Amino acid sequence: MALKLNAINFQSPKCPSFSLPPAASFRSPKFFMASTLRSGSKEVETAKKPFGPPREVHVQVTHSMPPQKIEIFKSIEDWAEDNILVHLKPVEKCWQPQDFLPDPASDGFHDQVKELRERAKEIPDDYFVVLVGDMITEEALPTYQTMLNTLDGVRDETGASLTPWAVWTRAWTAEENRHGDLLNKYLYLCGRVDMKQIEKTIQYLIGSGMDPRTENSPYLGFIYTSFQERATFVSHGNTARQAREHGDLKLAQICGTIASDEKRHETAYTKIVEKLFEIDPDGTVQSFADMMRKKISMPAHLMYDGRDDNLFDHFSAVAQRLGVYTARDYADILEHLVVRWKVADLTGLSSEGQKAQEYVCGLTPRIRRLEERAQGRAKQGPKIPFSWIYDREVQL
Ligand SMILES: [Fe+2]
Ligand SMILES: [Fe+2]
Repeated sequence: MALKLNAINFQSPKCPSFSLPPAASFRSPKFFMASTLRSGSKEVETAKKPFGPPREVHVQVTHSMPPQKIEIFKSIEDWAEDNILVHLKPVEKCWQPQDFLPDPASDGFHDQVKELRERAKEIPDDYFVVLVGDMITEEALPTYQTMLNTLDGVRDETGASLTPWAVWTRAWTAEENRHGDLLNKYLYLCGRVDMKQIEKTIQYLIGSGMDPRTENSPYLGFIYTSFQERATFVSHGNTARQAREHGDLKLAQICGTIASDEKRHETAYTKIVEKLFEIDPDGTVQSFADMMRKKISMPAHLMYDGRDDNLFDHFSAVAQRLGVYTARDYADILEHLVVRWKVADLTGLSSEGQKAQEYVCGLTPRIRRLEERAQGRAKQGPKIPFSWIYDREVQL
């Protein structure tokens, strides 16, 4: 097993690198402070961070999966062909962003845009902060394709590789690409948000990447993506519901349509992990525990708009308060996956495997208790300006 540790620098105590929604945040004992960038004046700080604010960086572990396990992924290629690729939709049967947007070639375009903007006027600012954050998360798609291609044994070796893993990753990316596109165009047309600030945030975010701590291991990687697809399913589902409550059925349809893609992707990724549990229950349960100990960091946890060093925390606090994505959702997703993969029923595990099983099975109630306590202590948050909505203030 090759464990390579690269300690790297730049850390800000302000920006946690995992992201349970703030109400339930608890610090990992594994946190590693490498160095901290401090500076006296704001100008100096800005000059030093042309690509993003200083931030917490973990010890970067690479290639932690024993090389012989790469063979497992080779050996299930036929299975993946038959069982995973079926969860992709043929392009001709897919929706496209244009299906939900005013048609710029039609005579009715201006009227349709006007109607869209009238509907958007009824929606509060805090909702737009969350929708913008969700859109930016989707727009950092190059990072997620890169992340999948860090995984040993399943990466797209050529950019056009014909293994089912590579075919999946490319087609998944192509499906996901519609999500950011649709939300971006909707937000552009709605007239409620500062597109330039949003575009800057996207550029910063793609430049920053992400740090999911999956160590080139498809075990960790597919557990992470199973969790994430469900998290996005939940959050787009909630923005759909709330758009409906605000009387905007078209926006509800946009968010709901994206949510249903996320659900299909979740099904595929959880099936891969289910297969890993079947082939290698001990290794898989240990990976599951490892991933949960590290916490599932949100894909956009490094977001920055050039101004707010705690932008992700602020965005998540609003999402938590509105009930779009909450600490309870985090616990619900974990519970769902534990049941989905029948973790409690695993037998014949090594002692390490048993410890991992106990940890994972006991984690949901622990998180719920922490969350309840945090909720009990929670005071009303401050109001802070968001550059995405022209510095109008929103309560956290
Ligand atoms: Fe998506
Ligand atoms: Fe997704």
